[in-house]
Amino acid sequence: MEFESPQVVADALRSVGYLPNDRIAQVVFLAARLDKPILVEGPAGVGKTELAKSLARVTHRDLIRLQCYEGLDESKALYEWNYKKQLLRIQADADHDWEDIEHDIFSEEFLLARPLLEAIRAEEPVILLIDEVDRVEVETEALLLEILSDFQVSIPELGTIEASSQPIVILTSNNTRELSEALKRRCLFLHIDYPDPTREQEILTARVPGLSEHLASQIAKVARSIRNLDLKKAPSVSETIDWARTLLVLSVEDVDETILGDTLHVLLKYQTDIEKTAKELVSGVTD
Ligand SMILES: Nc1ncnc2c1ncn2[C@@H]1O[C@H](COP(=O)(O)OP(=O)(O)O)[C@@H](O)[C@H]1O
Ligand SMILES: [Mg+2]
Repeated sequence: MEFESPQVVADALRSVGYLPNDRIAQVVFLAARLDKPILVEGPAGVGKTELAKSLARVTHRDLIRLQCYEGLDESKALYEWNYKKQLLRIQADADHDWEDIEHDIFSEEFLLARPLLEAIRAEEPVILLIDEVDRVEVETEALLLEILSDFQVSIPELGTIEASSQPIVILTSNNTRELSEALKRRCLFLHIDYPDPTREQEILTARVPGLSEHLASQIAKVARSIRNLDLKKAPSVSETIDWARTLLVLSVEDVDETILGDTLHVLLKYQTDIEKTAKELVSGVTD
């Protein structure tokens, strides 16, 4: 993947509806140049996953996604043997030498590729998204290291499978725990925070057709004020997009205190946060 400059990356992302800041464009540019994975970290709903999806669109590459969760293991991340098929072959070949059978049933034909192996074996280069990597146990991270540093997978019965094409790898983390030093060392680090009001206004305009500049600007400013409060869960871009859609549906042209009070539950997901925001903000945010 060749981009001439961070500016070219930024323009390309914009053209598919993703509004990057300078840092995002720079890190993507460097990752492509240095063939390094990107570790994207930040609160939920700030565009981490969307960055990977948008890059796939920009580069016309397939997106292969490994969604991480607690308990994710090798058989779901890398590969597993197709036991059923192996068993059938063993039965069918019962009169053959065991050594021949064994050689036969541990061949590629009996391998079920999971996302990581799939990305390595893809003939055309892909975007590999390892999403929410902080959800797996720290021990499971070790599974990823070989892929991230050497773009290869070792299978004891088969040997080492090297990448036929180099994937662009994006890992995301919501920061629910520290990732291992070994993992971090292999990646370029990118922190994405809530956008500033100007960029959020642009994101809203790009994502919500029919939204006026005036309303987009008001929403971005209100979002900023709410994020400055000490809340259990601050509203992220996902929520401001939902709020913008809500205001459109309600034919609101201008946000006032009443509207804000009536629709806070779209932005905030805890009753205590709603009450706190109503108390501290509903008078005086819209001037
Ligand atoms: N920079 C951006 N440009 C365009 N849309 C964005 C941007 N950041 C966030 N969004 C939108 O916000 C929503 C949440 O983004 P997502 O990538 O799912 O968040 P997360 O960081 O949790 O992975 C998506 O609908 C996405 O389109
Ligand atoms: Mg995500």
